[in-house]
Amino acid sequence: MNLGFIYGLVSGFIIMAIVSAITVKNLGDEKEFLRKEVDFLKNTLNRITRVAPLRYLADKNGILIGTCVSSSHLTDRDYVETLIREFSVVTTENELKFEIVHPSPNTYVFEPADRIISLAEANGMRVRGHTLVWHAQLPPWIVNGNFTKEEWKKVLREHILTVVGRYRGRIWAWDVVNEAVDDTGSLRDTVWLKNIGPEYIELAFRWAHEADPGALLFYNDYGIEEVNAKSDAVYRLIKELLKRNVPIHGVGFQMHVSLDNPPNPQKVAENIKRFTDLGLQVHITEMDVRIKLPATEDELIRQAQVYKEILEVCLNSKNCTAFVMWGFTDKYSWIPYAFPGYGAALIFDENYLPKPAYYALWETLFSKAIWTPTSSD
Ligand code: XIL
Repeated sequence: MNLGFIYGLVSGFIIMAIVSAITVKNLGDEKEFLRKEVDFLKNTLNRITRVAPLRYLADKNGILIGTCVSSSHLTDRDYVETLIREFSVVTTENELKFEIVHPSPNTYVFEPADRIISLAEANGMRVRGHTLVWHAQLPPWIVNGNFTKEEWKKVLREHILTVVGRYRGRIWAWDVVNEAVDDTGSLRDTVWLKNIGPEYIELAFRWAHEADPGALLFYNDYGIEEVNAKSDAVYRLIKELLKRNVPIHGVGFQMHVSLDNPPNPQKVAENIKRFTDLGLQVHITEMDVRIKLPATEDELIRQAQVYKEILEVCLNSKNCTAFVMWGFTDKYSWIPYAFPGYGAALIFDENYLPKPAYYALWETLFSKAIWTPTSSD
């Protein structure tokens, strides 16, 4: 596949659109004609995106594009087909959370995560491991745990060494600590803070690094996309960790946003800049754009704009190396459960048809691609 080929396809497509627009003026049955034309254009576009899917174009922009994956959908053929065609990095949605991977003191359950990671490896995708230390999705033996401070440290250390150690060399980036700061900017009152103290954060990064010195280690949170009290607190926290030589390599902006109140791209850019100035990588880790249901055509187009703006900010920021969404099909999204009345948050619909947001990402990646041949061309 080369530049000429792609340009040929796209120019053909644009010429068709212009010709149709002119022709339609002279026709009696405009509606029927238009419907046919729209179908034709959709098919053409569909063919183009099959030849150059998102991951191909993301590669030409030097970034990874990804989604979270749930092992429970891997028997859905359309799910797997779309996944491996479009994405170059996957995040385990639930499989490596404490509750699932370590449900009782002496039991580890790796099989669901293994299935995702093997699929990723077989298809040249990187893996983001999610997540080692969080206040949610904890098993009862942790929630109700009754240990001394030293025992709590031992529990967490053993957990991190075992989970990270098992996938040493296979997980590209870990969300080591998730959501440790609350909405006011204080450290969140969690099992880990209560029982170990604030140093649990530093310890978690050190243990993860010990278990896999090659993995990129991230702090991940929501509501820190723009400069605000919470992102200020995260910034100070990470700066302090760096000062103490804690192995931390990046910050993850979850980017769960609502069309009611979309992020301001300039403010996101400004915020990314201060983190990258610390020498960190930034990943967009869990983007979705929820819409109050039922979603209208106009809302889907405005949603596309939000996706496009954030991708552009990432592409324009030198250390923004991955753009990951929290799922890709509206068939399986956490939004309707977490935000009742909301949905339609992802870039493919329930039938795996691309939505305007898909085309917006595609077009952004296409127009900014640097067309040097790679070994895969
Ligand atoms: C969500 C999953 O998508 C759901 O399946 C699960 O029931 C709850 O957790 N921030 C995070 C993710 O860091 O781990 C959450 O994932 C979504 C919010």
